[in-house]
This record gives sequence, C-alpha cells and structure tokens, in this order.
Amino acid sequence: MPKFRKTPCFLVLVIVTSLLSAAQAQAGSAARAAAPGGVNDRSLDAKVEALLHKMTLDEKIGQLVQYSAGQPTGPGTGRTDYNDMIAKGEIGALFNVTGAKEVNAYQHIAMEKSRLHIPIVFGLDVIHGFRTEFPIPLGLASTWDPALVEKAARVAAREASASGIRWTFSPMVDIARDARWGRMAEGAGEDPFLGSAMAVAYVRGYQGTRLDAPDSIAACVKHYVGYGAAEGGRDYNSTEISEHTLRQFYLPPFHAAVDAGTATIMSAFNSLNGVPSSANPFTLTQVLRKEWGFRGVVDSDWTSVAELIPHGIANDGATAARKALLAGVDVDMVSSLYHDHMAKLVKSGEVPQANIDEAVRRVLRVKFALGLFDHPYTDEKSEAAAMLQPESLSLARSAAERSFVLLKNAAGTSGAPLLPLSADTHTVALIGPLGDDGPNMLGSWAGMGKGEDVVSLRAALAKRIGADNLLVAKGVGILDGKDEDIAAAVDAAKKADVALVVLGENAGEMTGEAASRSNPGLPGRQQELLQAVIATGKPVVLVLCSGRPLIAPWAFEHVPAVLAAWFPGIQGGPALVNVLFGETTPTGRLVVSWPRSVGQEPLYYNASSTGRPQGAPGGEEKYVSRYIDELNSPQFPFGFGLSYTSYQYGATEISAKQLKVPSLNASLGVKASPVLTATASVTNSGKRAGEEVVQLYVRLQGTSVAQPVRALKGFQRVTLAPGETKKVTFDLGPEAFAMWNEKNQFAAEPSRATVWISSDSASGSGATFEIVP
Ligand code: NOJ
Repeated sequence: MPKFRKTPCFLVLVIVTSLLSAAQAQAGSAARAAAPGGVNDRSLDAKVEALLHKMTLDEKIGQLVQYSAGQPTGPGTGRTDYNDMIAKGEIGALFNVTGAKEVNAYQHIAMEKSRLHIPIVFGLDVIHGFRTEFPIPLGLASTWDPALVEKAARVAAREASASGIRWTFSPMVDIARDARWGRMAEGAGEDPFLGSAMAVAYVRGYQGTRLDAPDSIAACVKHYVGYGAAEGGRDYNSTEISEHTLRQFYLPPFHAAVDAGTATIMSAFNSLNGVPSSANPFTLTQVLRKEWGFRGVVDSDWTSVAELIPHGIANDGATAARKALLAGVDVDMVSSLYHDHMAKLVKSGEVPQANIDEAVRRVLRVKFALGLFDHPYTDEKSEAAAMLQPESLSLARSAAERSFVLLKNAAGTSGAPLLPLSADTHTVALIGPLGDDGPNMLGSWAGMGKGEDVVSLRAALAKRIGADNLLVAKGVGILDGKDEDIAAAVDAAKKADVALVVLGENAGEMTGEAASRSNPGLPGRQQELLQAVIATGKPVVLVLCSGRPLIAPWAFEHVPAVLAAWFPGIQGGPALVNVLFGETTPTGRLVVSWPRSVGQEPLYYNASSTGRPQGAPGGEEKYVSRYIDELNSPQFPFGFGLSYTSYQYGATEISAKQLKVPSLNASLGVKASPVLTATASVTNSGKRAGEEVVQLYVRLQGTSVAQPVRALKGFQRVTLAPGETKKVTFDLGPEAFAMWNEKNQFAAEPSRATVWISSDSASGSGATFEIVP
C-alpha cells in the first residue's frame, strides 16, 4: 500500500479514483470483496441450496413472480387474488404495499400458510427519500457530493425499512443526454464518472454496511441498459448504441454499482440495437453475469416481459416468458407470464430446469442476505417514530442548498451582483406558479412524500422577512393564466424591493416517467409573466423548479439572477431562503449540459470531435460541423455553477511528460496505483468564503477509437477563505488514461493526453503529455 499524504483533499480523491477503477476496469470485479451479509457472501450458499432442494417446480416459479399490490405505478394485470397465491407459494415479491401493518399482514400469510415459509420481499420506488423527500436525483447529483447522497439514501433506507420496505427500485443510473427525456430528473445526468460515483453512493447508503441489518434495504440499479438514449428523447423509445459507446458511457455506472454490491438490477423497457433490454442475452448474461460476476437478481421493469410482444420479438406470452428468462431476467414484474407459462415451458424442455434453479437461487440469496428468514416482520410500533426525524430534515435542507446551481448573477441596482439579497431587503414580491407550492417541490416519484410536509418558499420567506412584507401574486398557473392575474403580479413587483419569480414545470405531469417534452421550455404563459415583471424595472431573481434544464434563452438574456433549484424536496423553502439571502453560498454544479434550443439535443460535453470541428466558438465558417441558426455551445456547460465568491485557477501541472502503455495496462484494476499527479492552484479571489468543486478532465488523441473532447476523471470539493489559495492535487490511476479500444477492450494505447484542472467542462488550460508504446 503506497503511503499517501493525509490531506482532506487527497482523501476525497482516493475515493473518487477508486470509484473510477470500479466503474471502468474490467479486472475490478475479480477483486470484489465478498461483503458480509450481501449477495457476494458465499456463506449464504449452503442455506440457499438446502432450501432450493426442498422446492417443487411451482414453488420455484413462484419465487420468480412479482406483483404490485397497492397504488399502481403502471398499468396493472387486474389480478387481486394475492392472499391465495401467497398461501400457495405462487408469489415471491410484492410492491407498492405501504405501511408496516399491511406489509406484515401479507407476510403472515407467507410465513404461516405457505408450505416452505419463504418470506415475501416488499419493494417500493423509494427514489429520493421515503417520507423525508430529498431533492430529486438530478438535484442530488448536482451537489457533486457522493458522501451527502449516501447519507440521504441511508435516511431513506431507515424510513422505508421501518415501514416494512426492504427493497427500493433505485438508483436510476441511466446516462441522460437529452433534456426532452422526462426521466432525466431521476438520474445523475450525462457523465459516466460522476454517474458511477453517485451509483455507488446510493447503493452504499441503501444497503448500509450489512444488508441484513434491519434498517438496510436492497438497491435495484436501473434501467439496464441504454434506456436514457431513447431516440428523440421520447420515453420507452428504441435505442441504437454501439458496443463501444455502451461500454464507455452507458455501462460504467451499472458496473460500479455491481462492484459496490447492489443486490438487484432492473432490466429496461427499451430495445437496444433491435433486441429488447428485457430479453438481451448480451447485456444480461454475457456482460452482467460473465464479465462482472453479478450474483444478485435481475428484475424486469413493469410488464417489460409482456412487452416483448409489442416489441415484435414474441408472438405469444409463452415465447415472451421463455426469451426473457433465457436471456437472464430472473423475476417477472407484473406481467404474470412466468406464472402463466413457465411450468409448461420447463416440462416441455423449452426452458431448462437449470435456468429456473439459477434464477431461484439468486432470489433466495437476496432474501437470505436481507435476513428476511430470521426477521420477516416489521415492528409496527416503531414505524411512525422513524419518519421525519430532525436530523433527516436538516440533511434534506442541506442537500437542497447544495443542489442549487447559480446560473447567472449580474449586477442589481447597487452595482453589486443581485444575489445574495441584501440583509435589509424589506419587501419581496413572490411571483409565479411555484412560489407557494408544496406538492410540486417533492418532485416526481415521491410516493410516500406528503405535500403538507413541505416547507414552501412562501412559508420560509414569511418567516424570514415577516408575512406583512411578503406580497404574493401567482400571476399565472403552470400551464394557464389570465391577463388580470399577470397585472396583479406586476403591481406586486412595483411595490416590492425585489421580485422573486418562481417558474417551472409540474413535477408529476411534466417530469419523470412518461413525461417527455418535445419543447422543454417554460410552459404556458410563464415567459409572458416574466417579461411583464422585468418590464417594471425592478430587480428580478428567477428561480427555476424543473426536472431538466429548461430552454429559456430570453430569461437568461434579460433576467439578472437565475438559480436552478430543480425540485428541492420537503425543506426546499428554507434552503432557498438560506441561499437567496446568503446564509449559504451556492456550490451546486450542472450535471447536464444546458441547451440553448431543442435542436441541439442530444447535447453532451463528452462528445467526440468531428473531422470538421468548428474553429472559433460561434464562428461563421461554412463547411464545418455547426448549425446555421444556432451556436454549438450550450447555454451553460456541464460542471458549471457560479458562487457568491469567485475563483481563479493556476495552470495545470503534471508529474510526468511521458507514460508507457505496458506499465499503464499492468496496473489497470490494481487498487490505489496512481500513475500521474496533476496539480493546480485555486484561489478564492472574492470576498466571501466558498466551496469550489474542482474538476479534472482528460482527453486522449491519436487512439484507435476517437475519444471525447473531454472526459471527467476526478473532482474534489475545496473550501477556501477569501483570498486563500490551495494547491489541489489529483493522483490519477491508470484508468484515467485507458479507453475502450477497437476490440472493445479496456486498455491504454499510444496517444497524446491532455489534462485540465478547471471549474467546468469548458474552461481551463490543459497540460499535455505522451503515452508511448
Ligand atoms: C416502471 C418504471 O420504469 C420503474 O422505474 C419503476 O421502478 C417501476 N415502474 C416500478 O414502479
């Protein structure tokens, strides 16, 4: 074990670098530790085998069947005879059952009436909190703070498990490059490195140090795979992704989650290069099982086994069930096709018994790993007390504060930047459809969240400045609006020192699943309202609440201060007040490129160059890769975010002028083997203390397969007092300079490498070195 300097920055770096190894080094899986109590714990195998041995074919198939027994989160099967089925051992998993009492009632049937007393595992979409709703995952990722995300997931696990839920269908780790896709809200954005760090954080948070601890829940990493690349950004649409792109961009967060010990994975709805993800032997068996050694359960997404029929690869239910199981889907969520057809398929020899046994083994392994056989029930008396604990609320508030991204902060009337609002701000006009809103602040997929738990911006502002000094005028609804209400909002703005205009989307209808938008801008008459308020000449702060970057070029040109607040969760109001009044300095950074217009989509910073790159940004040269009516550049780049202070970066310095391919490849996947140190000085050149997210990007040129113009390979948070300078050091492992080559192997190649330490993906000056044979 090499000796490292023990600075806090370095500790962060070691974590981030090891995540990269996990995400990208094929050799990483082999080194995976057999975590006690998890699906990699071999000591469970004997129990699994002993039980498997006692089971009839029907009981085995029962373990592969999952139904939704509560509030449906998709079109159901209409089946409700769960009690009888559980007693007969025909159901292995239920979800959408809520409340410890309800969960226990079903569990009693399984434990007392079924022949082998195999417990049911109860699942739910616990996506960004259970009762304590945190910011949506896109917001949580914008914190660039995996440790915080892990803590948030831990809170969610504690609350969910107190309610009998031991399995969450989270995290969603789909790479999302297109703001039209509504489910961008549920993930960590466009980058595989950051996405891997977030995937690991969620898995660790949910699963805790031991999966069989009563407050741990199994993670389900989804949607495997390529779901975020839906053509045209239209949910459920087909995807075409080359193997190279799949391995380089879409698979790493899943691989990282597998290496972190996720107990389950969900197969996706989309077809991938013509083969539906829920019947894809290449991704489900070759990559997931054979290359990565995954020992947990693959659960199909909702009815995605039955959807093999409309996909066009099965003409009947039996064929769909056979194809899904043989490809590697262990559990059939909702379709009921395993229940209806699997026994016949096994008896006819179309599905080998061995495949059924293997799928059942995985299910039993997860149930043993969760400790369900020993502790099948939840203590109904402790359920209520576990919710909304003060530490959970304060974590939700700080997560929200850290998720906000300050996009613009131009001068107000005093000549200083408009934000933070001065302490003597007396009268505030709170305008817009989302300023006084509880339910929308929860974001999509907030099943157990309650609107009344939310402290709205209105309530938090009233507390801060006094209700009498707060003029509330909604102006318009999210989608509708009347002239007279706009006029009332204008009046309020005229009477106030500053207008806070809170605009955006409806969380449930316009973001999340089945919520793709062909024009993801400000809906309805919201821009009209904004224009009217701006016309008053009063200082205006725009707060955007959305599940995606909203295309709003007029606003970015005319409004002096803009804060992206996503959907901030139940403590959104106090968090916003703290940031707007400067108790806290914004530290969030974009995890998606913010588009100027919809025609730019899909838009992502880590694209390849073309043979005809545009020379000067915005240049008018004709025969280059550009639009004739739009810039190539985003409105705001990946990694971008302002602060109330400013930072200056020194040049990036690197420890070597040359690295050798053989030695890089020899150390690939070997833990803690830094091959290059990159350093830059970062100075807080402003007047306030701040926390900067220092980012490190790499480009490889001259390789067998074209590489991204920049790829994130490290990040650290650095706290700086006004005027303070720190040297920020990244010790990079060999993975930072390896790539998926033309043979689809992960390896280093002779190339020219450029390293940038910068504040976002579009700034900084790089240092170059050669990687030689
Ligand atoms: C369908 C969604 O695609 C998935 O993300 C979710 O976990 C399941 N429904 C279960 O509700």
